[in-house]
Amino acid sequence: MKAGFLSLAALGLCAIALVSAQQPSGAPVFTAAQVDAGRTAYEASCASCHVSDLGCRNEAPQLAGADFMNTWRTQGVDALFGFIRSTMPPGGARLSDDQYLAIVAYILRSNGAAPGAQPLTAATAVPIGTIATGQRPAAPAQVDDLGRERFYVQLHSEKAPDGNLWGWLLVQETKR
Ligand code: HEC
Repeated sequence: MKAGFLSLAALGLCAIALVSAQQPSGAPVFTAAQVDAGRTAYEASCASCHVSDLGCRNEAPQLAGADFMNTWRTQGVDALFGFIRSTMPPGGARLSDDQYLAIVAYILRSNGAAPGAQPLTAATAVPIGTIATGQRPAAPAQVDDLGRERFYVQLHSEKAPDGNLWGWLLVQETKR
């Protein structure tokens, strides 16, 4: 039986906007392996500013969600790749093109684009709005020791002094 969804309140400076679940029509342009490699590279080179959940934090803009889509919807994947490759991380060491492509795949996946058989290349020019919605793919459910599935949305990833994560909002709990 499903418990109700709690409504999300916008916290702090970063607005949480719900994006309509309209399905994009474009064919997949990156592979799941690129997404995995991209997650690792993102954690190493990007998450210090853009945080692990790709949400907005201080001056670093959101990389997944409605704000990101408003900026990038009409632009090609190659424009996002080119921007990141020439500017990010600001003042930091440059990554390889393969790493930047993997990070772009990870960002697209985090905006709801589906992986496929075709690897992302620097020449992939489809508009981002034709493959991504801004809606995150469903997070894997966490099952607690009572066998209940719990779904959390990460609002931000502050570490409490005891090492626990703050900022996780329980949005749904399934009783079995
Ligand atoms: C030192 C902090 C920092 C790091 C590390 C960093 N960024 Fe950024 N990023 C920023 C800031 C600040 C902005 C906004 C100013 C700008 O656009 O130059 C930004 C902007 C962006 C934007 C444009 C977002 C938009 O919609 O306008 C993208 C995309 C991006 N970063 C991706 C990345 C990626 C990918 C990495 C890792 C390779 C990365 N950033 C690492 C600070 C950072």
